[in-house]
Amino acid sequence: MTYLRMENLDLAGKRVMIREDLNVPVAGGKVTSDARIRAALPTIRLALNKGAAVLLLSHLGRPVEGEPDPQFSLRPVADRLSELLGIPVRLEADWLDGVEVASGQVVLCENVRFNPGEKKNDEALARRMAGLCDVFVMDAFGTAHRAQASTEGIVRTARLACAGPLLSRELDALQKALNHPEQPLLAIVGGSKVSTKLTVLDTLLDKVDELIVGGGIANTFIAAVGHPVGRSLFEPDLLPEAQRLIRKAHDAGGSIPIPVDVVVAESFSNDAVPLVRMVDQVQPGEMILDIGPRTIVEYSEIIAGAGTILWNGPVGVFEFEAFSAGTRGVAEAIGRSGAFSIAGGGDTLAAIDAFCEPDDISYISTGGGAFLEFVEGKTLPAVQALQDLYQHSVSS
Ligand code: 3PG
Ligand code: MG
Repeated sequence: MTYLRMENLDLAGKRVMIREDLNVPVAGGKVTSDARIRAALPTIRLALNKGAAVLLLSHLGRPVEGEPDPQFSLRPVADRLSELLGIPVRLEADWLDGVEVASGQVVLCENVRFNPGEKKNDEALARRMAGLCDVFVMDAFGTAHRAQASTEGIVRTARLACAGPLLSRELDALQKALNHPEQPLLAIVGGSKVSTKLTVLDTLLDKVDELIVGGGIANTFIAAVGHPVGRSLFEPDLLPEAQRLIRKAHDAGGSIPIPVDVVVAESFSNDAVPLVRMVDQVQPGEMILDIGPRTIVEYSEIIAGAGTILWNGPVGVFEFEAFSAGTRGVAEAIGRSGAFSIAGGGDTLAAIDAFCEPDDISYISTGGGAFLEFVEGKTLPAVQALQDLYQHSVSS
């Protein structure tokens, strides 16, 4: 992949706007997992060392555009970033009309998704943002699969746009790992909905030997093989699709294993009483919130036999202690395995933070959706825009 890289540019005295993915979990006004912030630090430090005045862009969550909601403010991110960088990072609420920033300073612009037009990649908005800087650096690998004003649109409208070191490092590492993966290849995909990951699951089945599904996705598969799921989160409309995917895996000589046991509760909360049930014994008032101990053993064996592991998404509600054993078990099994392991996604990073040692995972990606789309072989729009720009510059 060829595109202009920030490392090769002279940034002295320039206003450099860097799009990062600082979409991190926040609770009670504090960042609860700062992996994405830490991953962005080398880029920010490099820009500062090169003498740039740094403007940072990011989204946080999915607010309603045009309605700045304090719940989605980047304030906690600015605070954490200041601590990590050791310099004050100013959070600028109204930045679209212009921001004051000097060389050696860092200003974090408030949530880009507060701006109407961000998500639909409005060209006028992209131009307005681009107008605030001399150089635009796309470094948000985690958001590179979104064609939005602050990711793709701005690359096409900026005076000068390039890839940041985090984005290029991610692309290089994933490409290298996926070119000749050690067999068998195992994917573990958790998440709440089959509908949002249907094409990912489908394409992954063309590449992997085993596919372990977790979370709400697994509930739909459990229902698809005919087990009651009580009040669990699942998607009844997608039962035929889940059945088709199970057949597809089977026809290719692989499988989508179904948990043999699960942990259920009658309410979705930290203090709900957990109960282990065989998967065909879930009662009408119960919700499946984790995999059970026998399933942990089974999945750990599959993990131990893998040559390459792709991991995105927890297998249970691991934020609640009582329902964290499944995700902990999976994380620890990956840590123990000799496989080349690649993990990505916000929740996955939080699980790794909680349950793994830093060296347990061979490569940790900051991307969730972007990571999966890259694994699928899809083009990431913001990366495509950088490549087009490069092509255009060498051919003109
Ligand atoms: C993520 O966490 O997956 C990225 O930050 C992208 O966020 P989005 O799914 O809300 O676009
Ligand atoms: Mg996401």
